[in-house]
Amino acid sequence: MTIRRDDFPGDFVWGTATAAYQIEGAALEDGRAPSIWDTFSHTPGKTRAGDTGDVACDHYRRYREDVALMRDLGVNAYRFSVAWPRVLPQGRGAVNDAGLDFYDRLADALLEAGITPWATLYHWDLPQALEDAGGWPERDTAHALAEYAAVVGQRLGDRVKHWITLNEPWCSAYLGYGNGVHAPGRQDFALSLQAAHHLLLGHGLAAEALRAAVPGARVGVTLNLTPTHPATPDPRDLEAARRYDGFFNRWYLDPLFGFGYPRDVWELYGAMVPRVEPGDLEAVAAPLDFLGVNYYSRSVVRHGGQGPLFVEHVRPEGEYTYMNWEVYPDGIREIVARVAREYRPPAVYITENGACYPDGVDDDGEIHDPRRTAYYQSHLSKCAQAVREGVPLKGYFAWSLLDNFEWAEGYDKRFGLFYVNFATQERRLKQSGRWLKGFLEGGAGAG
Ligand code: NOJ
Repeated sequence: MTIRRDDFPGDFVWGTATAAYQIEGAALEDGRAPSIWDTFSHTPGKTRAGDTGDVACDHYRRYREDVALMRDLGVNAYRFSVAWPRVLPQGRGAVNDAGLDFYDRLADALLEAGITPWATLYHWDLPQALEDAGGWPERDTAHALAEYAAVVGQRLGDRVKHWITLNEPWCSAYLGYGNGVHAPGRQDFALSLQAAHHLLLGHGLAAEALRAAVPGARVGVTLNLTPTHPATPDPRDLEAARRYDGFFNRWYLDPLFGFGYPRDVWELYGAMVPRVEPGDLEAVAAPLDFLGVNYYSRSVVRHGGQGPLFVEHVRPEGEYTYMNWEVYPDGIREIVARVAREYRPPAVYITENGACYPDGVDDDGEIHDPRRTAYYQSHLSKCAQAVREGVPLKGYFAWSLLDNFEWAEGYDKRFGLFYVNFATQERRLKQSGRWLKGFLEGGAGAG
């Protein structure tokens, strides 16, 4: 298998992606207040080895160097997130100009380097003050997101035209409020559904605020989607796969595209369903310029386990990354083809795709990561196939530019194209990164 840049249209967007809390560090700098991730990561037992984002990749100070790395890699776009607690330390109200200035400088540096900025508003770092007032289960948080969107849009909108309201609301809602593996670490399934509803509502209101503030804005939302396959053809497993797909994919896709919450899942949840006020579903279904899809793996499930889902995960034979996620390249094609067919978004972007392996620097000074290179090659081949088959797939962002703070997994889990020595902050291109650079330069990529 060989994949070349020429296998994609000339105007295809090629980028890398990161998120504020995972790379910036400078947690107390220039008036930034704590987010739920500061609180959570500083709570003993919540993250691996007690890791926090206090320093991370020190990107807040090293952003110029990091923009130069991107330019050298040859990407033409960069997806980053804005830290809400830098801009509005209390979540709403007083704007902290010093915090906003950072994104101003970053946008300028990117544009100077010929790299188009793509800003994500909410990549999980809710200001702690808003969590103290109830967090995402509280309806007012949706309005706070829209106020924040207006502030950031007004300041950056002359230069930043591509906007993503939310990153992976399933994670914010379920991991944050359902099973508690992520911040703020609450554990209540019904609460997580109310959080999901307010995230979706916040998306709709923020999209509207961005359009009002930014001339020529292109507004989308990023979902983590997983093709869900039944472990066997047994009808009970088919039903289990349908339920899991409803919980994970359709609960977000359906309302965003104007179909409301999926009826089958709504019935399954019974008394746990969220409170939805008149007009909410119309707001959630604000027109999208594109759908962002983060793809890492598929889910294989069978009937079993606990309610309300009665689903158990199955681990098929195959290759796995260091996250213990199956390497399943065809899933990226399957999921974008499905959303294009069933929901008809005007455009789809892969806003994240990549792989985690336990990298280290070898004696020759190189980071030999052939499995990551193979992962990129196989997934890009499937993206090219999707484009050939007519999916309006317009771009691809590799996760991630740098090794970084992998949430509850801390710094042990490396996803970067650049290796980061967290003791010295030295960045070094991995072999996979060198492969991607060659690919972007137009060379062949043998796989
Ligand atoms: C999803 C998230 O958006 C990102 O923050 C995370 O690091 C990657 N996937 C890898 O798990």
